[in-house]
Amino acid sequence: MIVICPACRKAHHIAEGRIPPNVKVARCRACGTRFPFSVKASPSPNQGKAQREGKRPRTLAIALSKGGVGKTTTAVNLAAGLALGGYKVLLVDTDTQGQDAYMLGVKPRAGLTELVTGELSAGEALYEARRDLWLLCGGKSLAGVKRLISRKDFGGEMTLTEALKPIESAYDFVIVDTSPGWDPLTITTLFYVTEILTPVSLEVMTLHGLLEFFKSVASIQKYRNILTLKYILPTFLDFRVSQSRKILEKLESLYGELVCRPIRYNIVLSEAPAFGKSVFEFAPGSHGAQDYRDLVRRVSGREDLFAVGDRGVGND
Ligand SMILES: Nc1ncnc2c1ncn2[C@@H]1O[C@H](COP(=O)(O)OP(=O)(O)O)[C@@H](O)[C@H]1O
Ligand SMILES: [Mg+2]
Repeated sequence: MIVICPACRKAHHIAEGRIPPNVKVARCRACGTRFPFSVKASPSPNQGKAQREGKRPRTLAIALSKGGVGKTTTAVNLAAGLALGGYKVLLVDTDTQGQDAYMLGVKPRAGLTELVTGELSAGEALYEARRDLWLLCGGKSLAGVKRLISRKDFGGEMTLTEALKPIESAYDFVIVDTSPGWDPLTITTLFYVTEILTPVSLEVMTLHGLLEFFKSVASIQKYRNILTLKYILPTFLDFRVSQSRKILEKLESLYGELVCRPIRYNIVLSEAPAFGKSVFEFAPGSHGAQDYRDLVRRVSGREDLFAVGDRGVGND
């Protein structure tokens, strides 16, 4: 289970079986604060429905080999939106650029690298970026993880699975942001997740890139038939750009139901990161926020989400 210190917000992963019976007080190993604690009465704020029901979380990779299509924007805003919708969400950044932390305006001292290498415990590597939203940040140090995976003679593709399995049950959703290209971290991600969400920019014709990416995914599906291409998300929709409509129609004719309602081109989506805010925090009434709310509803299957009165979510 995960226990969070009420003073310093540090998350401690503790094996429930190792807690002696009748413990009433816990002490934070990081800041020394003592606080009331009971295994039964105080499920951690990080325990999602998934854990309560003993289920695996939904695991989604946001992936396409091409850069600049809105992967990180989608990963961060989808994760933030699901958290606002009351889900427990873990956002994992597998990109050496480490943009997810920047976009959320946080500076974790550790992240995915330290968890994978075993340098730090999960509790030390995880960062509570928002209520119900936890981050395993990426960054330059992931280059070392790529080398580590490549050097393994056997089982390198299971690296992310091995790192996340022990902690995943605390979450309802694990969203993994990936880097452009096809590197060892993308492969290990696709051996962990069961669903893929692929953002496709409608600004430029990326259909060729999309087909190449799907071929690479198929090469993994040969070994993992549970891996499903679940959503295609058109991004940068702008009907002033004549190509936009054509590409959208082409996508819909090729992929039908897989195609989600598009994310429109919206300047606030590129401004929000500089303020370290999700689009829901930065401009809740914007098209960008509306579109990402739609995506959250589609992914969660909860059409009722974000009705008037839901916490933290502006309505238009
Ligand atoms: N719908 C959108 N409208 C306007 N700008 C966007 C939109 N989606 C993303 N952006 C901006 O486009 C750039 C690339 O997006 P990003 O999410 O980083 O792509 P990727 O992760 O695929 O490289 C970023 O500056 C981002 O803020
Ligand atoms: Mg990115």
